[in-house]
Amino acid sequence: MEPVNVAIIYYSSTGTVHALAQAAAEGAEKAGAHVRLRKVAETAPPEAINTRPEWVEHLKDTADIAQAAHDDLEWADAVLFGAPTRFGNPAGQLRAFIDTTGPLWAQGKLADKVYSAFTASNTTHGGQESTILALANTFYHWGGIVVPPGYTDPIQFQSGNPYGASHVVGDGAPGEVTLAAARYQARRVADITAALKSSRAA
Ligand SMILES: Cc1cc2nc3c(=O)[nH]c(=O)nc-3n(C[C@H](O)[C@H](O)[C@H](O)COP(=O)(O)O)c2cc1C
Repeated sequence: MEPVNVAIIYYSSTGTVHALAQAAAEGAEKAGAHVRLRKVAETAPPEAINTRPEWVEHLKDTADIAQAAHDDLEWADAVLFGAPTRFGNPAGQLRAFIDTTGPLWAQGKLADKVYSAFTASNTTHGGQESTILALANTFYHWGGIVVPPGYTDPIQFQSGNPYGASHVVGDGAPGEVTLAAARYQARRVADITAALKSSRAA
């Protein structure tokens, strides 16, 4: 059977969600998937970006990562979305991309795919679950198959978030447990998508 296509579409200002996205890409690749790692367009004005040197730096560091396009969604059998928490919701940059997908949705092209999400926040109770669940609202509208990690692997009992991989930025850069959870989430998404794809092909 053909390998599954997994798109990882994310936004990151200062690199945390980018690190989770890269780990997710590794996990999906290891599961045998074809992977596209894509960032969404930056929509913040330079006045905002320039207030934070680490934001400016991260934009430069990731200049070579391709920007997400509708074709990536059409191509994908499964999509993992990553966004930092902003006031308990996904960052507007990712929402801005999602909000351009009306034409695909209207043609039914977003239905029946597998979706999953991951995030980062500054504090433990700063809105990781609400951010991931807010993204899931969109997956429901698309007629998607939502695949969360749950507690389906020992790493989940260490990382502790059954909704999706997540990192508390106040604790420093993402460590091995968080990155392993992101890899595991993407592997689970790829494995379940492969099972669906082969049963549909049968
Ligand atoms: C406008 C704004 C709103 C934010 N709101 C929250 C929030 O509600 N809860 C929280 O814990 N962190 C919040 N943060 C912190 C970000 O979630 C954190 O900087 C981000 O997860 C870092 O991810 P990145 O390095 O990928 O950009 C906010 C940051 C900004 C700039």
